[in-house]
This record gives sequence, C-alpha cells and structure tokens, in this order.
Amino acid sequence: MRKKIVAGNWKMNTLVSQGKALAEELNAFMKTYDMPEGKLVIIGTPFTHLSTCVEAVDTKKIHVAAQNCSQFEKGAYTGEVAANMIKDLGVEYTIIGHSERRQYFGDTDEVIATKLAQCYANGLSPILCCGEKLEEREAGKHFEVIESQLRNALKDVSAENFKNTVVAYEPVWAIGTGKTATPDQAEEIHAFIRGLIAKLYDAKIADDTTILYGGSVNAGNAANLFAQPDIDGGLVGGASLKANDFISIIKAI
Ligand code: 13P
Repeated sequence: MRKKIVAGNWKMNTLVSQGKALAEELNAFMKTYDMPEGKLVIIGTPFTHLSTCVEAVDTKKIHVAAQNCSQFEKGAYTGEVAANMIKDLGVEYTIIGHSERRQYFGDTDEVIATKLAQCYANGLSPILCCGEKLEEREAGKHFEVIESQLRNALKDVSAENFKNTVVAYEPVWAIGTGKTATPDQAEEIHAFIRGLIAKLYDAKIADDTTILYGGSVNAGNAANLFAQPDIDGGLVGGASLKANDFISIIKAI
C-alpha cells in the first residue's frame, strides 16, 4: 500500500525561532493525534532551520525535508549544500525540481537528474516535482510537459532507487495564486503520471508510488483533493506556515 503524505514546503519563510515554534506546535498536535498507519507528515524547511527542526520534533511522527540539494557531491562549490550534509542532520527527504527552482535557479531537467542521483547515493528520499505553466495548459500541452519532465528526470533512475521517490504534481498556475486545480483536473494528471510510471517501471511500482498534489492546497479544499483515487496527499506551501491550517490539512488525509 502506498503512503499518504501531507508535506509542508515553507519555502524561504520564517526565521529559525519562528520555524522552531511552528515545528513545536505541530509536534504537540502530533503527540496526541492518532495518525493512521501508512500516513506521514513532512515539514520542508530552509537549510538553516533543519537541525533545529529535527531536534524540535519526534521524527517518527514528523519527518523533515530540505527544499533542494547540490547536484555535486562535495568540494569547491561555494554556497552549495550537499545531499550527505543534509542526510547527516537526520533529514530524510528533499524536494527536488520545484518549479520555483526551475524558474529562478536554472534547475533544468538535466540538473534535476543529477540532484536525484545525489539523493539516492546519500539515502535521501526525493520529492520530485513536475507541473505545467499556464500557457502550456492553455495550449493543451500539459500531458506532454509532465511526461517530458518526468522522463528526463528519471531516465537513469533504477527501479530500486525510484521506489524511494515521492512524486509531486504542482501546476505552476496554481502555486501561490489561490487558483487550485479542481479535484478532477488534478486526478486526471495524477492518473496519467501513475500510468507513465507503470510504463517506465511496472504496474506494481506505479501502484506503490505516492503522488502528491501541490498548488493552493488549503484547509477548505484538501479533503476533496485527497478523496481522489490517485491523489495521495499534498505538498502545501502557504497553508503550511500556519499551524492550525496545516493541522486541518493533516486531519483531511
Ligand atoms: P502554495 O500552497 O502556496 O500554492 O504553494 C504550493 C507549493 O509550491 C508547494 O511546493
């Protein structure tokens, strides 16, 4: 059975003290909440917050993610953070290929493929993001764009490594805009992604893959999105910064 996941992506928000307070609030909730087997909560914090957040939570109940890692292993790469440095902190996941990194930081499909390789080599589970822009959807190219992003990112990824991967579908036009994809629109893409994974690997692996939806998920729309057969949870931006909203989304899973 595939895992259901509610993952927060804090992006470049909060000071360490604020992130710590948020992590502690979520931890206090999770301590008393009877989370069903096979359902996980992840918080994706800035690099500077990772250590503090790993210490602030019970990492069996709240898993910690970075939002990126270097495509290089180590060495003279000023300003970069290596996958093994992240892993060494007790972090289990990292977001890879978020559309904001594709847009602002040159994360091409090739770079994303090398970052995935670093994750697998260092025991970090990637949350691999894909998603089309508004103009691509309007031109009817959304399936094509998603397929190409995933095929390129995964072209050298073995089945064994892929099993440690979470996929996130985040239509760029829905991120931070308040314009959520409808449950039907999201489900259509999620089912397509699962079919593609079956072609790239096999039907069992596809069935076991967690595919998250991201893009203006909030306390009000989460339950309807999560009710879709191929939507296995959410990657939540803005609403993950408010403990009460994120807790409502956790309850919706
Ligand atoms: P919002 O939930 O703020 O739209 O952000 C989604 C996202 O980009 C999560 O990675």
